[in-house]
Amino acid sequence: MPYALSTMNYKSGAIMEQNTTKKKKGSQFVSNKELKAIAKSNNAEISKFEKLKKRKFVKEEEYTTTLLDESNVLEVDNLHTYFYSDVGVVKAVNGVSFNVPRGSTVGVVGESGCGKSVTSLSMLQLVAGPQGQIVEGEIRFKLKDYKKDENKKLIPIMACDDFGTTLTEVATDKYGTPIVDKKTGAFTTCDKQARDEHGFKMFEMEDKTFNIAKMPIDAMRKIRGKEIAMIFQEPMTSLNPVFTIGYQLREAVLEHTPGSTKEEARERCLEMLGLVGIAMAERVYESYPHQLSGGMRQRVMIAMALSCNPKLIIADEPTTALDVTIQAQILELLRNIKKEHGTSIMLITHDLGVIAEMADYVVVMYAGRVIEKGTVFEIFDTPLHPYTLGLQKSKPVVGGNTDKLYSIPGQVPNPINMPKHCYFYERCKYRTEVCKGDYPELVQISPTHQVSCHNYKRKQAEYEKVKSTKESKGDKK
Ligand SMILES: Nc1ncnc2c1ncn2[C@@H]1O[C@H](COP(=O)(O)OP(=O)(O)O)[C@@H](O)[C@H]1O
Ligand code: SF4
Ligand SMILES: [Mg+2]
Repeated sequence: MPYALSTMNYKSGAIMEQNTTKKKKGSQFVSNKELKAIAKSNNAEISKFEKLKKRKFVKEEEYTTTLLDESNVLEVDNLHTYFYSDVGVVKAVNGVSFNVPRGSTVGVVGESGCGKSVTSLSMLQLVAGPQGQIVEGEIRFKLKDYKKDENKKLIPIMACDDFGTTLTEVATDKYGTPIVDKKTGAFTTCDKQARDEHGFKMFEMEDKTFNIAKMPIDAMRKIRGKEIAMIFQEPMTSLNPVFTIGYQLREAVLEHTPGSTKEEARERCLEMLGLVGIAMAERVYESYPHQLSGGMRQRVMIAMALSCNPKLIIADEPTTALDVTIQAQILELLRNIKKEHGTSIMLITHDLGVIAEMADYVVVMYAGRVIEKGTVFEIFDTPLHPYTLGLQKSKPVVGGNTDKLYSIPGQVPNPINMPKHCYFYERCKYRTEVCKGDYPELVQISPTHQVSCHNYKRKQAEYEKVKSTKESKGDKK
């Protein structure tokens, strides 16, 4: 019963017991009447979105789109993901835009609760429903999809010799057993289908760009796991405890590779387990998740993510639950995967150290919005937003001579009642009169660097000053 009124509710951060008495002026309590009104409007909104998602036989043209820049693999444009809670609408993601260029790692960073996970879950339409809904925006993703003939069947690619003549082979049934002609007793032959480098049968493919935000759930199956794979923080929650590792890995391969047999899928899984650095892959293949350590389980998750050659891997805090040595190994593994397979990575973390090591581009989120984004050099060398500066200051430094680690004072505003002005206002030591006005738009600083702060020029001037001092010192030498 997602819309049921709970006995404990909160408004503006205050936890309270359900109030049945008349509401006092300025009170934090939500009256029964208000709760009923919220539930009614939530029901109407949620059923509207759910109906759209559950439609069957939707024409592909409805959710086909084009990328603004062909060098990107993913473009997130003005994404809004809300939760229709009992006490109001939680705007978890409130107008987020960023791109993931092909073959690069984009780090998404921010404090807990700023909307990083909800953004990543939106990419696969995995936001906890029915309360959680993508209400606005586009998620454009380019993929290679199987081409179909007029009977909606996949079109096989045939193996040819150097002269273009189709090769033949012994026909087999679905279990791989050769088919024998009952009359002649000879093996039946058929045209030979071409196979890819992993030994899987090849079918004709075509490039398509979809708007994931508008895709019905049925259609999402061709993207989830196959084109975009996700690695979660705690692998135990993503692996099913009652099935063996092998079974779970194999299912993922069989689901996304048409025409593949169990034996071929097994071979591919063992190859993937080897690739992620698991020794005795055969033994791990037969094991249950609880028999493996945390680091091993995370490697299995990465193997599962890789098994279908995804274009994009979304890793949501993939190393937060692991100890530092294993953390370093997993990050190294992700780096190699990017280098060798050209896979793009969206890496979500609250750890700036991980970002500095791994990312090419950085997106800094605060309270459901992007407040600064740029290349890793721009964000680390010339950060402009006071929040980005605060995050950097709160990072522990090896050999740093501090008794206490810096923490940004104050709290994120209540996501149900966001102010009209800058969300960082209450915590910002650089705020001025102008900050009480409208929410600051993202300003373009360089082709890759954008910031959303009314007073960004203050920090920019500081960098200019340091630069000119350095230059004049250099001249004197
Ligand atoms: N199922 C849910 N119901 C209501 N609110 C949620 C739900 N999941 C997340 N939220 C809210 O969305 C916001 C963003 O959460 P999340 O994306 O998990 O943060 P992060 O990953 O950055 O720590 C938070 O304010 C959180 O309370
Ligand atoms: S807009 Fe103002 S309050 Fe917001 S971060 Fe910039 S200086 Fe601080
Ligand atoms: Mg999270």
